Amino acid sequence: MEMNETKKVVLSGIQPSGTLTLGNYLGALRNWVKVQDEYDCYYMLADLHAITVRQVPAELRQNCFKTAAIYLAAGIDPAKSTLFLQSTIPAHSQLAWVLDCYAMMGELNRMTQFKDKSSRHADNINGGLYTYPVLMAADILLYQADLVPVGSDQLQHLELTRDIATRFNHAYSETFKIPKGLTTQTGARIMSLSDPTKKMSKSEVGDGTIFMLDSKDVVIRKIRKAVTDSDGEVRYAEGKHGINNLMSIYSAVTGKTFEEIESEFAGKGYGDFKLAVGEAVADELAVLQGEYQRYMTDKAYINDILIKGAEKASYIARKTLSKVYRKVGFYDPTK
Ligand code: TRP
Repeated sequence: MEMNETKKVVLSGIQPSGTLTLGNYLGALRNWVKVQDEYDCYYMLADLHAITVRQVPAELRQNCFKTAAIYLAAGIDPAKSTLFLQSTIPAHSQLAWVLDCYAMMGELNRMTQFKDKSSRHADNINGGLYTYPVLMAADILLYQADLVPVGSDQLQHLELTRDIATRFNHAYSETFKIPKGLTTQTGARIMSLSDPTKKMSKSEVGDGTIFMLDSKDVVIRKIRKAVTDSDGEVRYAEGKHGINNLMSIYSAVTGKTFEEIESEFAGKGYGDFKLAVGEAVADELAVLQGEYQRYMTDKAYINDILIKGAEKASYIARKTLSKVYRKVGFYDPTK
């Protein structure tokens, strides 16, 4: 038996809808890199999901390529993990349709991300936005994933995935593995610097978001401007959203505990603390940015990784899809 067959399967994805943020890095990518040896990992670029919000075609195309380069620069190793573009594997859309027929309107109506996105994009509340979680269920279930690294904002979608899979398994017979979330302690949720009660988002305009490709000066300036409080003490406490967020970032980057950070900055002001956070973040990003620039000059290499990744992923995806087609009763005239 091959090693791979005994490893648990991990699947996750990020929408290539803009430059990835420090939140994507600390909350997702860095953890994906850490689990590559332990699990059989599938990391996708969720480009089908990205068009639920209007995209400029040329920008989306560029962002897909750039995001692949960022995955690699962050340390996703194509020799260990399978990296692919969701849109290159038709089985994602195909399974999503079948699962649409097993997802209830009532369930979809309850999705908080749908409610939130429809209020932010009131002029474009489309069907894709509504069935978005079902496509995500298809992504996960196609690979019989055991574990799905997701941020807390995606837990409701994962719960729905489990419900749909369980419903399908009961209606027919065991078809899908029921996936679980894979959450990590540090950096799980990085908040906006300008409104630390909201998640750091790719689409925020203003200085609340640090992008993975921001220069050192920009990183330091954004962190200097981060919203804090008037208490003046660097300590982790309820209600100190801004400081808590900066402490989480600093802890994720340096590996220091909150207590260590508190004693490091005891008696010092927020200015010193912010500068230290800014430098630590900028230094970590600088390494990655160097790698990114190198990958960006090698289009053929990235294309090759994406093509090979899709070949491997689609083999597994097609297997699950044909099982599903057979169970629901589609007639296969080739058999
Ligand atoms: N919806 C996820 C997000 O915005 C991205 C995503 C798409 C995903 N398909 C997935 C994450 C499957 C995990 C598993 O963060």
